[in-house]
Amino acid sequence: MQITAHIAQVLCSALAWPAERRAQIEAALATPPNLALGDCAFPCFQLAKELRTAPNRIAQDLAGKIQPDRLIASAVAEGPYLNLFLNRRNALGQVLGEIRESPSTYGHTDMGRGQTLVLDFSAPNIAKPFHFGHLRSTNIGADLARIFAFQGWEVLRKNYLGDWGTQFGFVIYAWQKWGDEAALEARAIDYLVELYIRANRESEQDPSVREQARSLFLRLEQGDAEIRALWSRFRALSLDGFMRTYARLGISFDSYDGESSINDKVQSVVDRFLKAGVAKESLGAIVVEVADVLGRDIAPCMLQKSDGASTYAARDCAEAIDRWERYQFGANIYVVSRQEDHFAQVFAALGKLAVAEQWPVNWPARCENISFGYVRGMSTRKGEAVWLEAVLDEARDRAGRFRIERAEASARGAVAAGEADTVSEAVGQAALLYFDVSSRRMTDLSFDWDAVLQFEGNTGPYLQYAYARMSGIFRKAAELGLATADEPGDLATLGADEEWLLVQKLRGYGPAVRRAAEQREPFEVAHYLYELASVFNAFYNRHVVIEVAEPVRSRARLTLVKATQSVMRSGLQLLGIRPLEQM
Ligand code: ARG
Repeated sequence: MQITAHIAQVLCSALAWPAERRAQIEAALATPPNLALGDCAFPCFQLAKELRTAPNRIAQDLAGKIQPDRLIASAVAEGPYLNLFLNRRNALGQVLGEIRESPSTYGHTDMGRGQTLVLDFSAPNIAKPFHFGHLRSTNIGADLARIFAFQGWEVLRKNYLGDWGTQFGFVIYAWQKWGDEAALEARAIDYLVELYIRANRESEQDPSVREQARSLFLRLEQGDAEIRALWSRFRALSLDGFMRTYARLGISFDSYDGESSINDKVQSVVDRFLKAGVAKESLGAIVVEVADVLGRDIAPCMLQKSDGASTYAARDCAEAIDRWERYQFGANIYVVSRQEDHFAQVFAALGKLAVAEQWPVNWPARCENISFGYVRGMSTRKGEAVWLEAVLDEARDRAGRFRIERAEASARGAVAAGEADTVSEAVGQAALLYFDVSSRRMTDLSFDWDAVLQFEGNTGPYLQYAYARMSGIFRKAAELGLATADEPGDLATLGADEEWLLVQKLRGYGPAVRRAAEQREPFEVAHYLYELASVFNAFYNRHVVIEVAEPVRSRARLTLVKATQSVMRSGLQLLGIRPLEQM
């Protein structure tokens, strides 16, 4: 049993609580601000109400009831806290043992076992610019997918492409008017976006353009063969481009079925809403009132426009129903920003249908929109439209230049030329990907190329650098013949506070990933890794890992570094950041 679980169990029986409440205790456990106060703290104020006792009193009572054991050395009341001191030697042996035994799964749980999570993220619009929102959605979504899988969930990655809707009317209008085969061949998606923007601009001068675009889209919805052929060509071209970028990031999806795929189910879903008396006609459109259930002033959920065209909301309703029928999901999460009202409307409309049709499972309550803040200041040579591809190129090139300058300044050799590109690509990606999750997701961010590429401070490359440093230690150990693979050394030699703090930090990995899943916050993992790197650096600056005269202690320290490296690797991978042996 992990140490935290053990502590929770001991506290649970001291409180004479049923075992089911252990998780609650475990979640409340905290780390005291410094080692002199203890290694683990249990705050008692939450219990004061339930036990009708002052928190300080509860802490004292508990301290009296806890018997020292293999892992717990002593328990002391400190105001409203119960502070525990661990038996360092045993705790350290246990943590390092657990990591050695299963380096890639250490810290995982099976809390999600048997449950399916449908995760809707990235979802760019075909023939419309891929913007910051899609970039963050791609990144935060991919992180959440890995974080939930680490908790035992079956994760279904869904790229609900925006491949239907009036924008196609605009693109087709523009194509019929200005379309140029050669340009389409050469620039594919970039060209489609140009066409879209051009038609849009024209419609600002000439309102009839909007009408023509609308009617072209209606023809598409009615299955007009010529229009449909154009649509499917544009879709394929765009998807090709997106796929290249996803491959570069190492992201893949279980499904790329977008709005167009659900389209033929929309009509019957709208009818269902009408038949259940949940939707009604309003000025020729079909809508579901949601202000009543949401208790705020919000427009109704529009399922059909007055011209008969389907809507984004109707497609999302049909899509959610389809997902439920296919997967009976435990959660259905949409990583999308600035569409809070849209999702509130869709979920509320579905909730009303659930009541009217008396669904056995109220699954609309399992649907969630995970939103995030805005990124300012990221621009590329291409200007306005942010092409993920261009941002990645820029990140790679800047990382490359930065690494050369750095190597020159420190007069150290950079990595071999052949690997330089791969390393620059990985560093560039780390800078970008980490930046996105270096704050809680609702925070608005200001992007700055120089800041994100630094090897010091709260950046992706800083974490990669800490990792590479650890790899360097092992290269040196191998040169000196101090192999570590199956020789943990005498862990009792690890007595320094910096060593103990590092072990304590390693113990916190599982809880950090769990918090990330519970709060849908990859930031929790990012922040943990930043702290881990800092605690490691503090250890490394203070102690010499490899001392030829002290082989036993050196081996023990190498075991500690190895464990740190395993956890670092696991965490970096959760964030899609590539660990590097050398930078
Ligand atoms: N394509 C949409 C956009 O770019 C995002 C789709 C999100 N997913 C969904 N099921 N609505 O705004």
